[in-house]
Amino acid sequence: MLHQYDRRARSQRARRYARRSYAPAHAGGLLRTIPARVRIFSGIQPTGRKHLGNYLGAIRQYVEGQDRGDPAIYCIVDLHATSVAYDPRALPDYVYDTTAMLLAAGLEPERCVLFRQSDVREHTELCWLLSAVAAYGDLTRMHQFKDKSERDRELVRTSLFLYPVLMVADVLAYRAHEVPVGEDQRQHVELMRDIALRFNATFGETLVVPEHRIPALGARIMDLQQPDRKMSTTASEQRGLVYIDDEQRAIHKKLKSAVTDSGSEVRRAPDKPGVSNLIDVLAAVRGAAPETIEEEFAGGGYGAFKTAVGEEVAELLRPVRERYAELRPDEAALEQALAAGAQRARAIASHTLADVRTAMGIGPRASSLH
Ligand code: TRP
Repeated sequence: MLHQYDRRARSQRARRYARRSYAPAHAGGLLRTIPARVRIFSGIQPTGRKHLGNYLGAIRQYVEGQDRGDPAIYCIVDLHATSVAYDPRALPDYVYDTTAMLLAAGLEPERCVLFRQSDVREHTELCWLLSAVAAYGDLTRMHQFKDKSERDRELVRTSLFLYPVLMVADVLAYRAHEVPVGEDQRQHVELMRDIALRFNATFGETLVVPEHRIPALGARIMDLQQPDRKMSTTASEQRGLVYIDDEQRAIHKKLKSAVTDSGSEVRRAPDKPGVSNLIDVLAAVRGAAPETIEEEFAGGGYGAFKTAVGEEVAELLRPVRERYAELRPDEAALEQALAAGAQRARAIASHTLADVRTAMGIGPRASSLH
């Protein structure tokens, strides 16, 4: 049972968040609600070297989000990395790799909050608290859990099962409105919404219900050798993926040897997954519509097209690779950037946690404290 007072305080709080995120605006004589200041949150796995799919599908969106975010919060999710077999000695290095890569790509610690998940204890606490409103049945239906648990015959970790709840906690701890993720994370963001709604319905308006933001272009870059599967670090062949820090020549070569299909037309079609993927890659690189790529390369054959894609991809990634080489060796500086980010993250998350605890009746009764 909620007291009248609590109810009032809580609905005031809810209105405050609502106002913060959506300001009414007059547009064309109609009163609409448009997003005013959005809080953006995304997480990225510290899994070694990042590739072109990561860059076009996520990292570039992060950079752009810095201008809209209030703030834009980016988290390197080392705790999620422990949900599968991993090397504990290498994990700290992977976190530095990812930090340096994000900074090299254009994240600026003054314009966003960049931090390591495990530095902010609120995430794990909130994960437990939210598991009280996470349906067991829903978790058993998560595609990622099903895929990964089927693949791992040796040990299916409980942390793999709880992975989505920790991810939900990541976002809800910051009352973020917008979650830029790849297509494969859609179901997890839907879970976030369900859990936030259920929490609010059960314990009173406390959490913001976030929305996903999946880039139209570049969300699904496929393997260059096996264009029916996503570009991924677990690819069977190194030639199938372009790393962000690959040398120019290596990139040219990988694109030249990319699998193309029978025929010679540069055109997207279901039976031409290889060429379709390359068209999507170039469209994402240029921020152009795939149709314009098809027109430009119509009748030119595969060879010239692949050379062009290779050159433009290499040119896009060159400055990132160069900057990465400068930043990566200075681990003290990377650590400092992460620590400063964690401090700012904690300042936001601790507020949410205080509200969540109060709403759930965890800790002392508020009225006993004074
Ligand atoms: N699961 C996400 C991925 O594999 C990473 C992630 C963890 C994340 N926490 C998040 C993404 C919160 C968005 C928001 O890509």
